[in-house]
Amino acid sequence: MQRAQADGAYEMWKEVLRRADVQWIHDEVKASGLRGRGGANFPTAIKWESLPDNGLPRHLVINGDEGEPSTFKDRVLLEGDPHALVEGVCIEAYRIGSHRAFIYLRGEFALGADRVQQAINEARAAGFVGTNILGSGFDLEIVVHRGAGAYICGEESALIESLEGKRGMPRIKPPLPIHVGLYSQPTVVNNVETVCTITHILKMGGAEYAKLGVNRSTGTRLAAISGHVKQPGVYELEFGMTLRDIIFGIAGGIRDDKQLKFFLPGGASFQWLINSDEHLDQVYDIDDISAKLGTTLGSGAIMVYDQDTDPLLVAWRLAKFYAHESCGKCTPCREGSGWIEKVLYRMSHGLGRPNDMDALLDISAGISPDVMKAPFTQTTICPLGPSPVSAVASLQKWFRAEVEAACGTEAQA
Ligand SMILES: Cc1cc2nc3c(=O)[nH]c(=O)nc-3n(C[C@H](O)[C@H](O)[C@H](O)COP(=O)(O)O)c2cc1C
Repeated sequence: MQRAQADGAYEMWKEVLRRADVQWIHDEVKASGLRGRGGANFPTAIKWESLPDNGLPRHLVINGDEGEPSTFKDRVLLEGDPHALVEGVCIEAYRIGSHRAFIYLRGEFALGADRVQQAINEARAAGFVGTNILGSGFDLEIVVHRGAGAYICGEESALIESLEGKRGMPRIKPPLPIHVGLYSQPTVVNNVETVCTITHILKMGGAEYAKLGVNRSTGTRLAAISGHVKQPGVYELEFGMTLRDIIFGIAGGIRDDKQLKFFLPGGASFQWLINSDEHLDQVYDIDDISAKLGTTLGSGAIMVYDQDTDPLLVAWRLAKFYAHESCGKCTPCREGSGWIEKVLYRMSHGLGRPNDMDALLDISAGISPDVMKAPFTQTTICPLGPSPVSAVASLQKWFRAEVEAACGTEAQA
Protein backbone atom coordinates (compact mmCIF):
# COMPACT_ATOMS: atom_id res chain seq x y z
CA MET A 1 0.00 0.00 0.00
CA GLN A 2 2.73 2.44 0.99
CA ARG A 3 4.66 1.81 -2.22
CA ALA A 4 1.53 2.15 -4.32
CA GLN A 5 0.68 5.41 -2.59
CA ALA A 6 4.22 6.67 -3.08
CA ASP A 7 3.56 6.08 -6.79
CA GLY A 8 0.39 8.15 -6.61
CA ALA A 9 -2.24 5.50 -5.92
CA TYR A 10 -5.60 6.92 -4.74
CA GLU A 11 -4.59 10.53 -5.52
CA MET A 12 -7.10 10.61 -8.39
CA TRP A 13 -9.76 8.98 -6.20
CA LYS A 14 -9.25 11.76 -3.64
CA GLU A 15 -9.46 14.34 -6.44
CA VAL A 16 -12.69 12.77 -7.72
CA LEU A 17 -14.24 12.99 -4.26
CA ARG A 18 -12.97 16.54 -3.83
CA ARG A 19 -14.49 17.66 -7.14
CA ALA A 20 -17.68 15.64 -6.64
CA ASP A 21 -18.38 16.06 -10.35
CA VAL A 22 -19.66 12.95 -12.07
CA GLN A 23 -20.05 14.77 -15.37
CA TRP A 24 -16.34 15.63 -15.40
CA ILE A 25 -15.41 11.94 -15.19
CA HIS A 26 -17.87 11.18 -17.94
CA ASP A 27 -16.68 13.95 -20.25
CA GLU A 28 -13.01 13.06 -19.87
CA VAL A 29 -13.57 9.36 -20.56
CA LYS A 30 -15.79 10.20 -23.52
CA ALA A 31 -13.20 12.60 -24.93
CA SER A 32 -10.54 9.91 -24.54
CA GLY A 33 -12.41 7.58 -26.90
CA LEU A 34 -11.72 4.67 -24.52
CA ARG A 35 -13.12 1.40 -25.86
CA GLY A 36 -13.45 -1.67 -23.67
CA ARG A 37 -10.35 -3.84 -23.53
CA GLY A 38 -12.23 -7.11 -22.96
CA GLY A 39 -12.60 -7.85 -26.67
CA ALA A 40 -15.86 -6.28 -27.80
CA ASN A 41 -14.34 -2.78 -28.13
CA PHE A 42 -17.47 -0.99 -26.93
CA PRO A 43 -16.92 2.70 -25.99
CA THR A 44 -16.95 2.89 -22.20
CA ALA A 45 -18.64 6.29 -21.89
CA ILE A 46 -21.41 5.28 -24.31
CA LYS A 47 -22.07 2.24 -22.13
CA TRP A 48 -22.49 4.53 -19.13
CA GLU A 49 -24.89 6.71 -21.12
CA SER A 50 -27.12 3.69 -21.69
CA LEU A 51 -27.71 3.20 -17.95
CA PRO A 52 -31.41 3.56 -17.24
CA ASP A 53 -32.51 6.02 -14.60
CA ASN A 54 -35.18 3.79 -13.09
CA GLY A 55 -34.41 4.15 -9.42
CA LEU A 56 -33.04 0.60 -9.11
CA PRO A 57 -29.61 0.04 -7.53
CA ARG A 58 -26.81 -0.07 -10.09
CA HIS A 59 -24.00 -2.57 -10.02
CA LEU A 60 -20.45 -2.47 -11.28
CA VAL A 61 -18.98 -5.81 -12.29
CA ILE A 62 -15.32 -6.12 -13.20
CA ASN A 63 -14.54 -8.89 -15.63
CA GLY A 64 -11.31 -10.60 -14.62
CA ASP A 65 -12.22 -14.00 -15.98
CA GLU A 66 -9.50 -13.95 -18.65
CA GLY A 67 -10.03 -17.53 -19.80
CA GLU A 68 -9.14 -17.25 -23.47
CA PRO A 69 -6.07 -19.20 -24.59
CA SER A 70 -3.11 -16.80 -24.86
CA THR A 71 -4.81 -13.83 -23.19
CA PHE A 72 -2.86 -13.07 -20.01
CA LYS A 73 -2.71 -9.30 -19.73
CA ASP A 74 -5.25 -8.73 -16.93
CA ARG A 75 -3.33 -11.14 -14.76
CA VAL A 76 -0.38 -8.76 -14.83
CA LEU A 77 -2.56 -5.98 -13.46
CA LEU A 78 -4.28 -8.15 -10.86
CA GLU A 79 -1.05 -9.55 -9.48
CA GLY A 80 1.26 -6.62 -10.15
CA ASP A 81 -0.83 -3.52 -9.51
CA PRO A 82 -4.00 -4.42 -7.55
CA HIS A 83 -4.34 -0.93 -6.08
CA ALA A 84 -4.65 0.46 -9.62
CA LEU A 85 -7.67 -1.79 -10.08
CA VAL A 86 -9.20 -0.85 -6.72
CA GLU A 87 -8.77 2.86 -7.46
CA GLY A 88 -10.30 2.42 -10.93
CA VAL A 89 -13.24 0.53 -9.41
CA CYS A 90 -13.82 3.34 -6.89
CA ILE A 91 -13.83 5.99 -9.61
CA GLU A 92 -16.07 4.06 -12.00
CA ALA A 93 -18.49 3.12 -9.21
CA TYR A 94 -18.70 6.79 -8.29
CA ARG A 95 -19.38 7.73 -11.92
CA ILE A 96 -22.27 5.30 -12.28
CA GLY A 97 -23.60 5.68 -8.74
CA SER A 98 -22.96 2.10 -7.67
CA HIS A 99 -22.43 1.22 -4.03
CA ARG A 100 -21.50 -2.40 -4.56
CA ALA A 101 -18.87 -3.52 -7.04
CA PHE A 102 -17.93 -7.11 -7.82
CA ILE A 103 -14.55 -8.21 -9.12
CA TYR A 104 -15.06 -11.55 -10.84
CA LEU A 105 -11.82 -13.49 -11.22
CA ARG A 106 -11.26 -16.81 -12.88
CA GLY A 107 -10.81 -19.56 -10.33
CA GLU A 108 -7.20 -20.19 -11.29
CA PHE A 109 -6.18 -16.63 -10.34
CA ALA A 110 -5.42 -17.56 -6.73
CA LEU A 111 -2.51 -15.17 -6.38
CA GLY A 112 -4.38 -12.36 -8.13
CA ALA A 113 -7.40 -12.91 -5.89
CA ASP A 114 -5.25 -12.77 -2.75
CA ARG A 115 -3.51 -9.60 -3.86
CA VAL A 116 -6.70 -7.85 -4.93
CA GLN A 117 -8.39 -8.81 -1.64
CA GLN A 118 -5.39 -7.52 0.30
CA ALA A 119 -5.49 -4.28 -1.67
CA ILE A 120 -9.20 -3.87 -0.87
CA ASN A 121 -8.50 -4.51 2.82
CA GLU A 122 -5.72 -1.93 2.83
CA ALA A 123 -7.85 0.58 0.94
CA ARG A 124 -10.63 0.07 3.47
CA ALA A 125 -8.21 0.55 6.37
CA ALA A 126 -7.06 3.80 4.78
CA GLY A 127 -10.65 4.98 4.35
CA PHE A 128 -10.74 4.76 0.52
CA VAL A 129 -13.42 2.02 0.52
CA GLY A 130 -16.36 1.50 2.89
CA THR A 131 -18.97 3.87 4.24
CA ASN A 132 -18.81 7.67 3.99
CA ILE A 133 -15.50 7.48 2.13
CA LEU A 134 -13.20 10.32 3.25
CA GLY A 135 -16.23 12.15 4.58
CA SER A 136 -17.81 12.40 1.13
CA GLY A 137 -21.03 10.61 2.00
CA PHE A 138 -20.28 8.06 -0.73
CA ASP A 139 -20.37 4.37 0.25
CA LEU A 140 -18.74 1.55 -1.67
CA GLU A 141 -18.22 -2.12 -0.92
CA ILE A 142 -16.04 -4.21 -3.23
CA VAL A 143 -16.55 -7.97 -3.34
CA VAL A 144 -14.02 -10.38 -4.88
CA HIS A 145 -15.66 -13.43 -6.42
CA ARG A 146 -13.68 -16.35 -7.80
CA GLY A 147 -15.22 -18.36 -10.61
CA ALA A 148 -14.64 -22.05 -11.11
CA GLY A 149 -12.59 -21.81 -14.29
CA ALA A 150 -15.17 -21.89 -17.10
CA TYR A 151 -14.25 -19.80 -20.14
CA ILE A 152 -17.89 -18.99 -20.87
CA CYS A 153 -18.07 -17.10 -17.57
CA GLY A 154 -16.05 -14.35 -19.25
CA GLU A 155 -19.07 -13.60 -21.42
CA GLU A 156 -20.76 -10.85 -19.47
CA SER A 157 -24.23 -12.36 -19.10
CA ALA A 158 -22.86 -15.81 -18.21
CA LEU A 159 -20.61 -14.08 -15.69
CA ILE A 160 -23.65 -12.45 -14.14
CA GLU A 161 -25.45 -15.80 -13.96
CA SER A 162 -22.39 -17.26 -12.24
CA LEU A 163 -22.21 -14.34 -9.80
CA GLU A 164 -25.85 -14.97 -8.95
CA GLY A 165 -24.86 -18.51 -8.00
CA LYS A 166 -26.24 -20.21 -11.08
CA ARG A 167 -24.54 -22.26 -13.74
CA GLY A 168 -22.62 -19.91 -16.04
CA MET A 169 -24.52 -19.77 -19.31
CA PRO A 170 -25.11 -16.71 -21.47
CA ARG A 171 -28.46 -15.01 -21.37
CA ILE A 172 -30.42 -14.27 -24.51
CA LYS A 173 -30.05 -10.57 -25.37
CA PRO A 174 -31.83 -8.21 -25.29
CA PRO A 175 -32.16 -7.16 -22.58
CA LEU A 176 -28.55 -6.15 -22.17
CA PRO A 177 -26.91 -6.24 -18.72
CA ILE A 178 -26.80 -2.46 -18.73
CA HIS A 179 -30.61 -2.57 -18.50
CA VAL A 180 -31.29 -5.89 -16.78
CA GLY A 181 -28.10 -7.28 -15.28
CA LEU A 182 -27.08 -8.58 -11.87
CA TYR A 183 -30.18 -9.34 -9.75
CA SER A 184 -32.20 -7.93 -12.71
CA GLN A 185 -30.79 -4.49 -11.98
CA PRO A 186 -28.78 -2.15 -14.22
CA THR A 187 -25.20 -3.41 -14.42
CA VAL A 188 -22.05 -2.11 -16.02
CA VAL A 189 -19.58 -4.87 -16.88
CA ASN A 190 -16.07 -3.76 -17.69
CA ASN A 191 -12.78 -5.48 -18.24
CA VAL A 192 -9.97 -5.15 -15.66
CA GLU A 193 -7.74 -3.17 -18.03
CA THR A 194 -10.59 -0.85 -19.05
CA VAL A 195 -11.19 0.06 -15.42
CA CYS A 196 -7.50 0.60 -14.70
CA THR A 197 -7.23 2.90 -17.72
CA ILE A 198 -9.89 5.31 -16.43
CA THR A 199 -7.60 6.66 -13.69
CA HIS A 200 -4.84 7.39 -16.23
CA ILE A 201 -7.31 9.14 -18.52
CA LEU A 202 -8.38 11.46 -15.72
CA LYS A 203 -4.73 12.16 -14.89
CA MET A 204 -3.80 12.93 -18.50
CA GLY A 205 -7.08 14.47 -19.58
CA GLY A 206 -9.28 12.74 -22.13
CA ALA A 207 -8.23 14.88 -25.08
CA GLU A 208 -4.56 14.24 -24.36
CA TYR A 209 -5.17 10.49 -24.11
CA ALA A 210 -6.99 10.56 -27.45
CA LYS A 211 -3.86 11.96 -29.10
CA LEU A 212 -2.30 8.55 -28.54
CA GLY A 213 -3.24 5.83 -30.98
CA VAL A 214 -4.91 6.12 -34.33
CA ASN A 215 -8.42 6.87 -35.63
CA ARG A 216 -11.04 5.41 -33.26
CA SER A 217 -8.44 3.16 -31.68
CA THR A 218 -7.20 5.69 -29.18
CA GLY A 219 -4.59 5.29 -26.50
CA THR A 220 -2.61 2.26 -25.58
CA ARG A 221 -3.52 -1.29 -24.70
CA LEU A 222 -1.84 -4.24 -23.07
CA ALA A 223 -0.99 -6.95 -25.56
CA ALA A 224 -0.06 -10.49 -24.58
CA ILE A 225 2.35 -11.75 -27.22
CA SER A 226 3.03 -15.46 -27.21
CA GLY A 227 4.26 -18.29 -29.37
CA HIS A 228 7.43 -18.52 -31.41
CA VAL A 229 8.81 -15.05 -30.76
CA LYS A 230 12.11 -14.24 -29.11
CA GLN A 231 10.55 -12.06 -26.40
CA PRO A 232 7.04 -13.20 -25.48
CA GLY A 233 5.29 -11.20 -22.79
CA VAL A 234 2.81 -8.47 -21.96
CA TYR A 235 3.55 -5.12 -23.59
CA GLU A 236 1.79 -1.80 -23.51
CA LEU A 237 1.32 -0.94 -27.19
CA GLU A 238 0.17 2.29 -28.72
CA PHE A 239 -2.49 1.70 -31.34
CA GLY A 240 -1.20 2.65 -34.78
CA MET A 241 1.98 0.56 -34.83
CA THR A 242 2.29 -1.96 -37.64
CA LEU A 243 2.03 -5.66 -36.92
CA ARG A 244 5.59 -5.92 -38.25
CA ASP A 245 6.79 -3.44 -35.61
CA ILE A 246 5.04 -5.46 -32.95
CA ILE A 247 6.17 -8.95 -33.94
CA PHE A 248 9.66 -8.17 -35.22
CA GLY A 249 10.39 -5.07 -33.15
CA ILE A 250 8.80 -5.34 -29.74
CA ALA A 251 8.64 -9.14 -29.57
CA GLY A 252 12.10 -9.49 -31.12
CA GLY A 253 11.16 -11.52 -34.20
CA ILE A 254 10.90 -15.25 -34.65
CA ARG A 255 12.93 -17.42 -32.30
CA ASP A 256 15.94 -19.30 -33.69
CA ASP A 257 15.74 -16.85 -36.61
CA LYS A 258 13.19 -18.98 -38.38
CA GLN A 259 10.57 -17.65 -40.77
CA LEU A 260 7.18 -16.47 -39.62
CA LYS A 261 4.42 -18.70 -40.99
CA PHE A 262 1.20 -17.24 -39.58
CA PHE A 263 -0.11 -15.31 -36.61
CA LEU A 264 -3.36 -14.63 -34.77
CA PRO A 265 -3.48 -10.82 -34.33
CA GLY A 266 -6.53 -10.94 -32.04
CA GLY A 267 -5.88 -14.19 -30.22
CA ALA A 268 -7.55 -17.57 -30.36
CA SER A 269 -11.09 -16.55 -31.34
CA PHE A 270 -10.43 -14.56 -34.49
CA GLN A 271 -9.14 -15.09 -38.00
CA TRP A 272 -5.47 -15.61 -38.68
CA LEU A 273 -3.00 -13.67 -40.85
CA ILE A 274 0.10 -14.89 -42.65
CA ASN A 275 3.64 -13.86 -43.46
CA SER A 276 2.93 -11.32 -46.20
CA ASP A 277 3.83 -7.65 -46.56
CA GLU A 278 0.13 -6.76 -46.70
CA HIS A 279 -0.51 -8.41 -43.35
CA LEU A 280 2.67 -7.33 -41.60
CA ASP A 281 2.27 -3.73 -42.72
CA GLN A 282 -1.27 -3.65 -41.36
CA VAL A 283 -1.70 -1.04 -38.68
CA TYR A 284 -2.79 -2.13 -35.19
CA ASP A 285 -6.20 -0.45 -35.44
CA ILE A 286 -9.41 -2.20 -34.39
CA ASP A 287 -11.57 -0.95 -37.26
CA ASP A 288 -8.97 -0.81 -40.00
CA ILE A 289 -7.83 -4.42 -39.57
CA SER A 290 -11.45 -5.54 -39.61
CA ALA A 291 -12.31 -3.56 -42.76
CA LYS A 292 -9.17 -4.52 -44.66
CA LEU A 293 -8.30 -8.01 -43.49
CA GLY A 294 -11.49 -9.38 -41.96
CA THR A 295 -10.12 -10.01 -38.51
CA THR A 296 -10.04 -8.11 -35.25
CA LEU A 297 -7.81 -7.45 -32.25
CA GLY A 298 -9.92 -9.24 -29.63
CA SER A 299 -8.68 -8.95 -26.09
CA GLY A 300 -5.13 -8.07 -27.06
CA ALA A 301 -3.53 -11.48 -27.54
CA ILE A 302 -1.14 -12.00 -30.44
CA MET A 303 -0.12 -15.60 -31.14
CA VAL A 304 2.82 -16.14 -33.46
CA TYR A 305 3.84 -19.36 -35.28
CA ASP A 306 7.03 -20.22 -37.14
CA GLN A 307 7.67 -21.98 -40.44
CA ASP A 308 7.64 -25.45 -38.85
CA THR A 309 4.14 -25.18 -37.42
CA ASP A 310 1.34 -27.37 -38.72
CA PRO A 311 -1.70 -25.06 -39.02
CA LEU A 312 -4.00 -28.06 -38.77
CA LEU A 313 -2.62 -28.93 -35.36
CA VAL A 314 -3.09 -25.36 -34.17
CA ALA A 315 -6.67 -25.30 -35.51
CA TRP A 316 -7.42 -28.63 -33.83
CA ARG A 317 -5.96 -27.55 -30.47
CA LEU A 318 -8.02 -24.36 -30.51
CA ALA A 319 -11.16 -26.25 -31.58
CA LYS A 320 -10.60 -28.73 -28.74
CA PHE A 321 -10.61 -25.85 -26.29
CA TYR A 322 -13.84 -24.36 -27.65
CA ALA A 323 -15.57 -27.75 -27.81
CA HIS A 324 -14.60 -28.36 -24.19
CA GLU A 325 -15.72 -24.90 -23.08
CA SER A 326 -19.01 -24.79 -25.01
CA CYS A 327 -21.62 -24.43 -22.28
CA GLY A 328 -24.15 -26.47 -24.23
CA LYS A 329 -27.01 -24.01 -23.95
CA CYS A 330 -27.49 -23.64 -27.71
CA THR A 331 -27.40 -26.49 -30.23
CA PRO A 332 -25.20 -25.05 -33.00
CA CYS A 333 -22.32 -24.46 -30.60
CA ARG A 334 -22.83 -27.55 -28.46
CA GLU A 335 -22.94 -29.91 -31.44
CA GLY A 336 -20.97 -27.95 -34.02
CA SER A 337 -17.91 -27.26 -31.87
CA GLY A 338 -17.62 -30.97 -31.09
CA TRP A 339 -17.94 -31.97 -34.74
CA ILE A 340 -15.34 -29.40 -35.80
CA GLU A 341 -12.98 -30.74 -33.15
CA LYS A 342 -13.45 -34.36 -34.24
CA VAL A 343 -12.89 -33.63 -37.94
CA LEU A 344 -9.86 -31.46 -37.18
CA TYR A 345 -8.48 -34.16 -34.92
CA ARG A 346 -8.37 -36.71 -37.70
CA MET A 347 -7.10 -34.15 -40.23
CA SER A 348 -4.24 -33.14 -37.96
CA HIS A 349 -3.30 -36.68 -36.99
CA GLY A 350 -2.77 -38.19 -40.44
CA LEU A 351 -6.30 -39.60 -40.72
CA GLY A 352 -7.85 -36.84 -42.85
CA ARG A 353 -10.26 -37.62 -45.65
CA PRO A 354 -10.37 -35.82 -49.00
CA ASN A 355 -13.60 -33.95 -48.34
CA ASP A 356 -12.82 -33.03 -44.73
CA MET A 357 -12.13 -29.36 -45.42
CA ASP A 358 -15.50 -29.05 -47.12
CA ALA A 359 -17.13 -30.93 -44.25
CA LEU A 360 -15.60 -28.40 -41.85
CA LEU A 361 -16.97 -25.51 -43.89
CA ASP A 362 -20.37 -27.15 -43.97
CA ILE A 363 -20.48 -27.70 -40.20
CA SER A 364 -19.18 -24.18 -39.64
CA ALA A 365 -22.00 -22.73 -41.75
CA GLY A 366 -24.43 -24.09 -39.17
CA ILE A 367 -22.75 -21.85 -36.59
CA SER A 368 -21.72 -18.89 -38.74
CA PRO A 369 -23.84 -18.91 -41.91
CA ASP A 370 -21.39 -16.64 -43.70
CA VAL A 371 -18.36 -18.66 -42.66
CA MET A 372 -15.68 -16.66 -44.40
CA LYS A 373 -16.98 -13.29 -43.31
CA ALA A 374 -15.60 -11.50 -40.30
CA PRO A 375 -16.78 -10.19 -37.95
CA PHE A 376 -18.77 -13.36 -38.09
CA THR A 377 -22.46 -13.89 -38.39
CA GLN A 378 -23.82 -16.32 -35.80
CA THR A 379 -26.73 -18.65 -35.12
CA THR A 380 -25.58 -19.07 -31.53
CA ILE A 381 -26.56 -17.23 -28.35
CA CYS A 382 -23.07 -15.85 -27.82
CA PRO A 383 -19.83 -15.46 -29.80
CA LEU A 384 -18.19 -18.55 -28.30
CA GLY A 385 -19.81 -20.66 -31.04
CA PRO A 386 -18.17 -18.89 -33.98
CA SER A 387 -14.72 -18.94 -32.35
CA PRO A 388 -13.59 -22.32 -33.78
CA VAL A 389 -15.08 -21.24 -37.11
CA SER A 390 -12.38 -18.55 -37.27
CA ALA A 391 -9.75 -21.29 -37.39
CA VAL A 392 -11.68 -23.15 -40.10
CA ALA A 393 -12.06 -20.01 -42.20
CA SER A 394 -8.35 -19.29 -41.77
CA LEU A 395 -7.37 -22.78 -42.94
CA GLN A 396 -9.61 -22.35 -45.98
CA LYS A 397 -8.24 -18.88 -46.76
CA TRP A 398 -4.53 -19.43 -46.27
CA PHE A 399 -3.77 -23.14 -46.08
CA ARG A 400 -6.25 -24.93 -48.35
CA ALA A 401 -3.48 -26.44 -50.52
CA GLU A 402 -1.49 -27.59 -47.47
CA VAL A 403 -4.62 -29.09 -45.93
CA GLU A 404 -5.52 -30.91 -49.13
CA ALA A 405 -2.02 -32.28 -49.40
CA ALA A 406 -2.28 -33.54 -45.82
CA CYS A 407 -5.71 -35.05 -46.33
CA GLY A 408 -5.12 -36.79 -49.60
CA THR A 409 -7.39 -34.89 -52.00
CA GLU A 410 -4.72 -34.80 -54.66
CA ALA A 411 -3.78 -38.40 -54.13
CA GLN A 412 -7.40 -39.45 -54.59
CA ALA A 413 -8.02 -37.15 -57.56
C1 LIG B 1 -16.90 -16.44 -24.69
C2 LIG B 1 -16.55 -15.06 -24.23
C3 LIG B 1 -15.57 -14.87 -23.26
C4 LIG B 1 -15.25 -13.60 -22.81
N1 LIG B 1 -14.27 -13.47 -21.86
C5 LIG B 1 -13.98 -12.23 -21.40
C6 LIG B 1 -13.00 -12.06 -20.37
O1 LIG B 1 -12.40 -13.02 -19.89
N2 LIG B 1 -12.75 -10.80 -19.93
C7 LIG B 1 -13.42 -9.71 -20.44
O2 LIG B 1 -13.20 -8.60 -19.98
N3 LIG B 1 -14.33 -9.84 -21.41
C8 LIG B 1 -14.63 -11.07 -21.89
N4 LIG B 1 -15.61 -11.19 -22.84
C9 LIG B 1 -16.32 -9.97 -23.29
C10 LIG B 1 -17.43 -9.60 -22.30
O3 LIG B 1 -18.64 -10.27 -22.69
C11 LIG B 1 -17.71 -8.08 -22.27
O4 LIG B 1 -17.84 -7.60 -23.58
C12 LIG B 1 -16.60 -7.29 -21.56
O5 LIG B 1 -16.32 -7.80 -20.27
C13 LIG B 1 -17.06 -5.83 -21.40
O6 LIG B 1 -16.01 -5.08 -20.84
P1 LIG B 1 -15.26 -3.95 -21.68
O7 LIG B 1 -16.30 -3.10 -22.33
O8 LIG B 1 -14.46 -3.22 -20.69
O9 LIG B 1 -14.42 -4.65 -22.70
C14 LIG B 1 -15.93 -12.47 -23.34
C15 LIG B 1 -16.91 -12.65 -24.33
C16 LIG B 1 -17.20 -13.93 -24.77
C17 LIG B 1 -18.26 -14.09 -25.81
